[in-house]
Amino acid sequence: MAKRTVVTMPGDGIGKTVLPEALRVISAAGFEADYEHADIGWDFWINEGNALPDRTLKALEKHKLGLFGAITSKPKDQAGVELSPALQGTGLVYSSPIVRLRQYFDLDVSIRPCRSFLGNPLNFVRKKEGGIDEPKVDAVIFRQNTEGLYGGIEWTDPPEQVRSALATHPRFKLFADTPGEDLAISTRIFTRAACKRIIGEAFAFAKKFGYKSVTVCEKPNVLRETSGMMRAEAKLIAEDYPDIALWETNIDAQMMWMTKNPEDYGVLVSGNMFGDIVSDGFAGLVGGLGFACSANIGKEVAVFEPTHGSAPKYEALSPPIVNPVAMILSACMMLDHIGEVQKADRIRDAIGKVIAEGKVRTYDMMRLTGGPDVFDKGAVTTTAMTDAVIAELG
Ligand code: NAI
Ligand code: MG
Repeated sequence: MAKRTVVTMPGDGIGKTVLPEALRVISAAGFEADYEHADIGWDFWINEGNALPDRTLKALEKHKLGLFGAITSKPKDQAGVELSPALQGTGLVYSSPIVRLRQYFDLDVSIRPCRSFLGNPLNFVRKKEGGIDEPKVDAVIFRQNTEGLYGGIEWTDPPEQVRSALATHPRFKLFADTPGEDLAISTRIFTRAACKRIIGEAFAFAKKFGYKSVTVCEKPNVLRETSGMMRAEAKLIAEDYPDIALWETNIDAQMMWMTKNPEDYGVLVSGNMFGDIVSDGFAGLVGGLGFACSANIGKEVAVFEPTHGSAPKYEALSPPIVNPVAMILSACMMLDHIGEVQKADRIRDAIGKVIAEGKVRTYDMMRLTGGPDVFDKGAVTTTAMTDAVIAELG
């Protein structure tokens, strides 16, 4: 079979540190591919006025498969100030390249597995009579990735047509006298097609990997229309999966439940913002950002990335201190996606062994404050962590 080409987008900051580490691991596990570097991130905003250049979109359009590190995003006004002098005043407006990437390729299914590794000192524990209890967490969050509150349809001082359209709703009376400049609106738009797809993918995944429940985590008692549509579609799709229980929780209650009995949850499915929240919550129970991996899957293109950002305060540290595991696990998700599941499992097993042994730990696993002195306190470098994983591949 012809070798695949993977589009690699390290991006900014520690994205540039961790992405090459993941490539070392998948290569050591026997995965052979061609890699095509593609530009994304802050430098391209500053110098080209476009954080996601067209050439990057073309590369992904062609090869369909991307590995992404992280980017730096800054608020609109700061983005304008940092633009190169030649581009100042040309009307360019900054927008997050990763959000754009998800929308451009309709990467509507985000998958965020949160699984605890035995022996990780960052694992969630709870008190019990005479000691502590460390439940195994194995939750996989399916997050609708393109719509909802992150759909980008929002205004401060909305145009008159928007105001009058809203005025057709009786509840808008409350806001009718608010001056435009004092009125901020962010919309939450759900489509039935996107609800069906994310819920369908969640159930199919639960069935394939033997999870006993799918939890729809929304807020239908208040968000009757959008969350209500998710709920209604979930009930219909659940009929095709009689062996999988459909649970419903509200996002607020879910945040409480998951810190009491996280082991009860299997697959969870949510809209864009609630999926973002609940997946960060679960990630915190299994080690935090150094362990949180994700997939963005569209009908044609798929991009895999750790959920952490560019951690600018650590980017200049040499040797680097950050944990490469989130990026390596994201690369494993890419292998799963293209049918190289055995290689991915081998890598996950190797990570599990390194963590269980407990000899090699990055600073975050030791709860240290990041800085150049973490090595004196027993933490290892990013590279040493990767080397340890590779050594365990056998
Ligand atoms: P961040 O995820 O970059 O870092 C927050 C903190 O988490 C770090 O200071 C560090 O203590 C820890 N951390 C993150 N990754 C780690 C790793 N691999 N190993 C060990 N510790 C790790 O989030 P922050 O500081 O809020 O944002 C920094 C920049 O990243 C911003 O410009 C933000 O817009 C961007 N960002 C980009 C994302 C993406 O590319 N998908 C996601 C989140 C933030
Ligand atoms: Mg997030």
